[in-house]
Amino acid sequence: MEKGYTDILARPFLQGMREAGAEVELFYAKRLMIKPCTGEFHCWDEKPGECYQHDEMQTLYPKLREANILVLAVPVYIPLPGVMQNLINRLCPLLEPILEIRDGRTRARLRSNVQIQRIVLVSTGGWWEIGNFNTLVGIAAELAETMGIEFSGALLRPHAYLMIRKGELTKKGEEILDAARKAGQALVRHGKIPEDLSTSVSRPLISSDAFVKLWNRRYGAMNDQTDT
Ligand SMILES: Cc1cc2nc3c(=O)[nH]c(=O)nc-3n(C[C@H](O)[C@H](O)[C@H](O)COP(=O)(O)O)c2cc1C
Repeated sequence: MEKGYTDILARPFLQGMREAGAEVELFYAKRLMIKPCTGEFHCWDEKPGECYQHDEMQTLYPKLREANILVLAVPVYIPLPGVMQNLINRLCPLLEPILEIRDGRTRARLRSNVQIQRIVLVSTGGWWEIGNFNTLVGIAAELAETMGIEFSGALLRPHAYLMIRKGELTKKGEEILDAARKAGQALVRHGKIPEDLSTSVSRPLISSDAFVKLWNRRYGAMNDQTDT
């Protein structure tokens, strides 16, 4: 949560959104009591649009219905933390069970009382390459497709640890967070994250070889023969 790398990246992004005029509310999934979906389809059959589970997801539903943009800020945990998966599953009441085939895939759509127009992903990962985010990006994109709304881009920060040195943000770390802030502004003003800003947030801070050496030195790997 507040101490995490994802928060370090998400905060300036949300700040940029505020600077561009958006009203932003931040919720930590882990702090909310959100039970797993039990798959009863109660929210589609018995009480359309309502989940029968009276936990803290009930606080989020009205806010989700009113929001225009849903920002999912999630670290890569092969592929994502369970609390966030629970939250995503519990979005089901926002969907109408009217199916259609769009681009060869069976999709639902948001209920008419739900305002969300776009989904954005903000994520950090520990390892070097951007491919570590593939599953998570796929989940966010699928969610947007299923809801019939736009996936407006992702801010992805691999080897996020290297933004910090000796407890302080590095110069490059500062530049990354500045790009994240500008990306938040652009999202609100233009409806998407410009490619130059997402590239700037994701750019390598070290070569892949140097990253692996650094990592393995830290964990005392026995098989790093090049590290002499
Ligand atoms: C259970 C678990 C699985 C992880 N799996 C990956 C992974 O597959 N790829 C990756 O790049 N980082 C992985 N990481 C590292 C985290 O993504 C990284 O430390 C991230 O910045 C943590 O964000 P946070 O501080 O907000 O929790 C994993 C971490 C945990 C705890």
